[in-house]
Amino acid sequence: MYRPPSGLTLHGAGGHTDRKTRCTVEVLDSAEPLFWNMKMNNSLLETRSYINGQWTASEDTYPVFNPANGDVLAQAAAAGAQETHQALQAADTAFLKWREDTAGARAAILLRWKDLMLRCKDELSNLLTSEQGKPLIEAQGEVAYAAGFLEWFAEEGKRTYGDIIPSHLPNTQVLVCKEPVGPAGAITPWNFPLAMITRKAGAALAAGCSVVVKPSELTPLCAFALALLAEEAGVPPGVFNVVSGDAPAIGTALMESPIIRKISFTGSTRTGRLLMAKAAEGIKKISLELGGNAPFIVFEDADIDQAVNAAAASKFRNTGQTCVCVNRFYIQHSVHDEFVEKLRGRIDSLVVGNGLDEGVTQGPLINQAALKKVQNHVKDALGKGGRLITGGKLHKLGGTFYEPTLITHVNEEIIGAREETFGPVAFCFSFGSEQEVVKRANDTPYGLAAYFCTRDMDRVRRVSKALEAGIIGVNEGLISTPSAPFGGIKQSGLGREGSKYGIDEYMELKYILIR
Ligand code: SIN
Repeated sequence: MYRPPSGLTLHGAGGHTDRKTRCTVEVLDSAEPLFWNMKMNNSLLETRSYINGQWTASEDTYPVFNPANGDVLAQAAAAGAQETHQALQAADTAFLKWREDTAGARAAILLRWKDLMLRCKDELSNLLTSEQGKPLIEAQGEVAYAAGFLEWFAEEGKRTYGDIIPSHLPNTQVLVCKEPVGPAGAITPWNFPLAMITRKAGAALAAGCSVVVKPSELTPLCAFALALLAEEAGVPPGVFNVVSGDAPAIGTALMESPIIRKISFTGSTRTGRLLMAKAAEGIKKISLELGGNAPFIVFEDADIDQAVNAAAASKFRNTGQTCVCVNRFYIQHSVHDEFVEKLRGRIDSLVVGNGLDEGVTQGPLINQAALKKVQNHVKDALGKGGRLITGGKLHKLGGTFYEPTLITHVNEEIIGAREETFGPVAFCFSFGSEQEVVKRANDTPYGLAAYFCTRDMDRVRRVSKALEAGIIGVNEGLISTPSAPFGGIKQSGLGREGSKYGIDEYMELKYILIR
């Protein structure tokens, strides 16, 4: 039933010395530092924790699966509290030196890291598709997106300006400086296993912080590969550490350690709430990028073809497994049938399969739990009067492949109206007036992304103001970029990542009065 994954052949636990030559990097100009040329002819497969610049095995290992076929790709070191404490000590020591480097020196290292990512694009994207499942074309896009955060923050680090404030006292000067907050903990998800690390670590390192990363146990190999490239780029030992394995033990060690001054988390609202409570105990700075339940509104004055393009791009990116994916389509009555028909055509053209195979546009869901959730949301919607337009069942490939699905004639009683489905299912509601749809769109505890389509500029102003979300896409479904602030309101999170605002999350203001 499954086609074997082509391309990457990964080695199992303990096979660390036999990295194969996969990431072929041209020999660089002789003017460039020598360490650039080392090791880059090796594979990016690494399965051990990266602590204080050392690759560290653990007593136990755990399997990393390919979601397309269930194969065990590798056995990763199962780090726990002990390894995390080592990483914390390393981050604490390294911070003292790293913070004293110039922003320019830090930028040079971040830019080398970015260059190495781009040079190893093929190998990184292969690894990403193998452990996460997204189609190769999307994985290549994620490599560029992830590298973009390193570039963006390398530059932003040079612009963390302070102020000189007219003093309230004679013969004094009032200064405000920005300083790195301290060692940071980054807890990252499986759906963007490269970009969610660089979005946090790029900002942290540029600001002068050291980082301990806890990637998802479902996708640690991308994190280790990033660490290999960080090492190669010259990130000093202890500045960037990766530990993966026993999630509760690692999470607890990060949250309870007085060394960590900042936590950045991307994941569910439920876990975010627990982390926020834990952070409160140590009064740690925290940013949270949590769940969403994005509405996508199509007004009758919209360009329907453009709306369908935007809808499909947002809904089916990463097989519906992004926090900013549309979960609720609201279509105005008069254009409902036209939109649905065109979206159905688009959905039926999607190619489901192993993301490493040519032409595939929809990969598997990450695991059985994800599949069960999708199946439950679909069953619930159909049981409550929803009309199945296409899809609606397990794909013939089996495993965790699910048919891209469109369901219309639903109402707010369905689970999908309240909870993120995180899968390739489009629920279509219909509406009458602008006022009504804005109210319905906002009727959720979440507020990450919202989208709408219209050609009326007055409406653009009104509705973008009225929608309760941190990110608004108008006539566009793909909104993510390193240069714009990413983050939500309400129960979708706190703080912003990316953009000129993202680096402030890793800095403190210091006021200095000088007589
Ligand atoms: C996410 O789903 O958490 C991130 C998506 C993005 O950066 O576009």
